[in-house]
Amino acid sequence: MSETLTIALSKGRIFKDTLPLLAAAGIVPTDDPETSRKLILDTNDSSVKLVIIRATDVPTYVRYGAADLGVAGKDVLMEHGGEGIYEPLDLRIARCRMVVAGLPGGYAGSRRLRVATKFVNSAHAHFAAQGRQVEIIKLYGSMELAPLVGLADCIVDLVDTGNTLRANGLVPWEDMAQISSRLIVNKASMKMKHRRVQRIIEQLREAVESEH
Ligand code: ADP
Ligand code: PRP
Ligand code: MG
Repeated sequence: MSETLTIALSKGRIFKDTLPLLAAAGIVPTDDPETSRKLILDTNDSSVKLVIIRATDVPTYVRYGAADLGVAGKDVLMEHGGEGIYEPLDLRIARCRMVVAGLPGGYAGSRRLRVATKFVNSAHAHFAAQGRQVEIIKLYGSMELAPLVGLADCIVDLVDTGNTLRANGLVPWEDMAQISSRLIVNKASMKMKHRRVQRIIEQLREAVESEH
């Protein structure tokens, strides 16, 4: 009997982009999370299960060992802090940039800058390193709206094509980080299920390298 392995994924772009990599490692889900209401998905391999959770919850599930492996954006890992988890592989999917953005003109005036973002920790660290006094306003989405209605002077958000910024008359003020999704591993699983976990890491690594 083989030990079971649980992999945490989020719906949407991470699930979609991880599928071909998992397939290369011989793992094919038997359900589609976009149509199924199930949160635990079986795969063609009876010893591998997928759990479908919010992107920001993936590091938490992996840290506590509720999932052995997971796929999480670097933005989410930066916010989480990455404590208690290994990050052995850049999957090079869901690539984008984390930026400071606002109305054209950039940083102006001397008053304390108001920054709207869901990336509170990353924003804090970024502006603290610049010695800039800021007030961070936590939002959960649609950050681009904040400067338009005077809620904030600028935002910290993710940009890919730039369409969302452009559609709202905003421009990038500063690049903060290149973002892609990473494979993350529970520390105990790495030890206790070493051969199994290592094999999946190597299969995914080969799949990533053959795609780039
Ligand atoms: P959420 O509902 O939490 O926003 P997403 O599926 O939109 O979840 O994002 C999951 C991950 O994909 C993010 O953590 C980030 O790393 C990446 N990502 C987010 N937006 C984009 C984008 N526009 N283009 C490419 N990657 C993105
Ligand atoms: C992300 C991000 C930006 C947008 C950037 O939002 O928060 O709003 O993508 O991509 P672009 O530069 O290609 O326009 P997402 O589509 O994930 O929406 P949501 O997280 O608010 O659901
Ligand atoms: Mg999103």
